[in-house]
Amino acid sequence: MKRSFIQQAKTGEPVLIQGFLEHIRNTRYMAFLVVRDRSGKMQVTIEKSAHPEWTALIETLTAESVVSIEGTIQENPQVKLGGRELIPTAITIESLAAPLPLTHEANIDTRLDYRWLDLRGEKERLLFEVQTCLVGAMREFLLQREFLEIHTPKLIAAASESGADVFEVGYFDRKAYLAQSPQFYKQMAMAAGFERIFETGPVFRAEKSYTNRHTTEFTGFDLEFSYIESFHDVMHLEAELLTYALERVQEKYGEAIEKHYGTKVIIPKLPFPEIALPELYRELEKRYGYRLPECERGDTTTEAEQLSYRFSMEEFRHEFLLVTDFAAEKRAFYHMQKDGVPQGYDLIWRGVEITTGAQREHRYDVLCRQAEERGLGEDVRFYTEFFRYGCPPHGGFGLGVDRLTMLLLGTGIKEAMFLFRGPNRLTP
Ligand code: 4AD
Ligand code: MG
Repeated sequence: MKRSFIQQAKTGEPVLIQGFLEHIRNTRYMAFLVVRDRSGKMQVTIEKSAHPEWTALIETLTAESVVSIEGTIQENPQVKLGGRELIPTAITIESLAAPLPLTHEANIDTRLDYRWLDLRGEKERLLFEVQTCLVGAMREFLLQREFLEIHTPKLIAAASESGADVFEVGYFDRKAYLAQSPQFYKQMAMAAGFERIFETGPVFRAEKSYTNRHTTEFTGFDLEFSYIESFHDVMHLEAELLTYALERVQEKYGEAIEKHYGTKVIIPKLPFPEIALPELYRELEKRYGYRLPECERGDTTTEAEQLSYRFSMEEFRHEFLLVTDFAAEKRAFYHMQKDGVPQGYDLIWRGVEITTGAQREHRYDVLCRQAEERGLGEDVRFYTEFFRYGCPPHGGFGLGVDRLTMLLLGTGIKEAMFLFRGPNRLTP
């Protein structure tokens, strides 16, 4: 017999359902099982006198075992689970579960040790449904605008970007590195005349950070496009993209998110507010007494990001804040500069950086000079070559999918990833 999802299984005709045993109640005359599949839950009601041959089997059943059950569904208003119950004609144990090592009160690290069990929860699965919807909507938005989806290598010969924070791996008789971002290859696609591209893929960072927003391997949503006039085009595209994606998520999962995570999905207003970093520091000092020595004001700090949320809500009634005018030495060498000011931005959502974006330097000689100023000449030669034979002006951004998910649902990053990776965690 063909398997039916519990939610769609019809009343009054023979069905086969398959799933985990969420609950077992074995009484003297009756046994009640609750079977769960990805669509829902079903009570299975067994009158023991009608099936003496199942007595031993029922006694061996354990919670979270996987079973196949054939039978007929009937209506019964007394059944709490949707007023229906399955009267079985055959029960097969597909996989008997050992006693469970995980309780509802387990801390996040124990939960991660047994992540596959942790993920059986409705709330946990919802996160991935939401993430699927979010990333799917972002992809849809870009496909509508004729972006190409590309897949760039993660094994690379030279350290990308800054050279710091890269993982080194053995590569036959030499060394290779794990890509810190698809940055260089996104730009190669611009030199190839693709004009509009995006990629969703793994990003590796050898950072020993133990925060609720850092991981050593995350999923990056990166895009790059040509013939921009300035980095403002990049900011506007990102604002539109996120607004579109959040609308899709709210439509489909707004209620479920509120129920399980206690947070509201708020559709942002366009355009997103912008502020230059020096101005932001002045505001944070004036409003909240946040003081930072002048020499540290070229970049955001964790506290400044957090406070900027409060500022953005108070000043603009907006959860997002675009911050521009970072100090040149704090930004990557490939950012275009105008009068010494990097032509890029960070996007902060609910007090956490989710994106860095910029117009890139596409002029070969200027780019080489900026690389050399950082002592990166040789390492990035393969990259600067991309710009020698004509390259359109272009820009783009890198967005952290895990951070986006985490902020959307109000969790930490460990819960927002299928499997978290950190300095102390490489398993399961
Ligand atoms: O700000 P990042 O380092 O920028 C780049 O990689 C540039 N190539 C982007 C560009 O196009 N100019 O990384 C981009 C985003 C961050 O804003 C953050 O959301 C996420 O990636 N991210 C991390 N997420 C989790 N753990 C980490 N250790 C992260 N580092 C960055
Ligand atoms: Mg950044």
